[in-house]
Amino acid sequence: MGPRPDPAARDRGIVLARGVGANVFDVDGNRYVDLAAGFGGLLIGHSHPRLERRLALQASTLMQALGDVVPSDVKVRCAERVAALHSSEHARVIFGQSGADAVTAALKSATLATGKPGWICFRGAYHGLSYAPLAACGLRESYRAPFAEQLNQRVHLVDYPSDPDSARGSLGQVTRALETGGIGSVLIEPILGRGGCVVPPEGFLCELHELCRRMDALLVADEIWTGLGRAGQWLYSARAGVCPDLVCLGKGLGGGVPISACVGRAELMQHWSRDDEVVHTSTFAGAPLACAAALETLDIIEQEQLVTRSREVGECWRAQLADALRSFALTLSVRGDGLMVAIDLGDRPGAAVRLQQELLTHGYLASTGGGRREVLVMTPPLTVDPVQLEGFVAPLQQSLHALAL
Ligand SMILES: Cc1ncc(COP(=O)(O)O)c(C=O)c1O
Repeated sequence: MGPRPDPAARDRGIVLARGVGANVFDVDGNRYVDLAAGFGGLLIGHSHPRLERRLALQASTLMQALGDVVPSDVKVRCAERVAALHSSEHARVIFGQSGADAVTAALKSATLATGKPGWICFRGAYHGLSYAPLAACGLRESYRAPFAEQLNQRVHLVDYPSDPDSARGSLGQVTRALETGGIGSVLIEPILGRGGCVVPPEGFLCELHELCRRMDALLVADEIWTGLGRAGQWLYSARAGVCPDLVCLGKGLGGGVPISACVGRAELMQHWSRDDEVVHTSTFAGAPLACAAALETLDIIEQEQLVTRSREVGECWRAQLADALRSFALTLSVRGDGLMVAIDLGDRPGAAVRLQQELLTHGYLASTGGGRREVLVMTPPLTVDPVQLEGFVAPLQQSLHALAL
């Protein structure tokens, strides 16, 4: 059963004070089931005791080294571990602190390797808001508009497919864009996350990769949201049988501590070697504390079998939600994979924000997505108790009734 916080808290806006497992508590002591989990980043939940211990140990051992000049032992181990997630041999890693850092590193790597400055990106896609990823942003025009003239102008936006028909259309658009020349990378979220949790049809990613190979462009998979078990696979692109040239990881990598990584094939990444000149770095890239957090988080995901758990628990929950929504309007649909789950509220701009607010009064914290905030997005910790998810079904139905959706 979900707890029932004070409804006044919803109207005031809540402020979080602490979290444990899949629960968070606001400053007034109200408890919520956290279906947002730090925008999908808290894969192992709040305050995992193993992560707490590992952070304390690292903090008392070594807090900072000298980045790429004199690395720490823990950074070296973390780079090896993250590289092993890529199925190519001797893959190499560039660390950052945010998802946007990882995407920037990937786009730079692709430009160095191909000498081609253009990118193909997808409508509805989100890759962060620093200058490189902002140029690749297909979500809200309002993010780009004030800075549009300062962004990479060699960006082609194509449609993100949701079914086999639209997949054919998207591949046609990608082909035509590649034919214009000068395009080094095709950047894609294997599931469109903030854009509304859209799962592309079977085979699309594979065909896209094939097209990239034929036309001499690199495939960059932004797995910042989908990766590390969130969507039920270590890398969601692997489910489609694809080994992208470059992969971006972030969000859950540090279990809540900021760290991100761009992982790439060795032949591509060797283009960074330039007569000992460092051309890309930052003070805290691969900082010991963050790397210790990442190593512990990856161990926990592996040892607690959270990838399989995400797949199984997610499948069961999506079925329960779909059942619960059958009595509502036909335009409500459930989609996603693993524990990356969304309810599309149809052609109702802003409806997800109203539903999110209503759900707070029942003690559930969720996120919103889609170009018009018409999608309720839920990304609970992979450690969540299925009973907590089951308990969400009735409050969801009550909230939808209350809002007459
Ligand atoms: C797919 C994807 N890529 C990149 C980012 C940007 O990550 P950050 O906010 O850590 O820069 C996000 C953030 O939501 C994301 O969902």
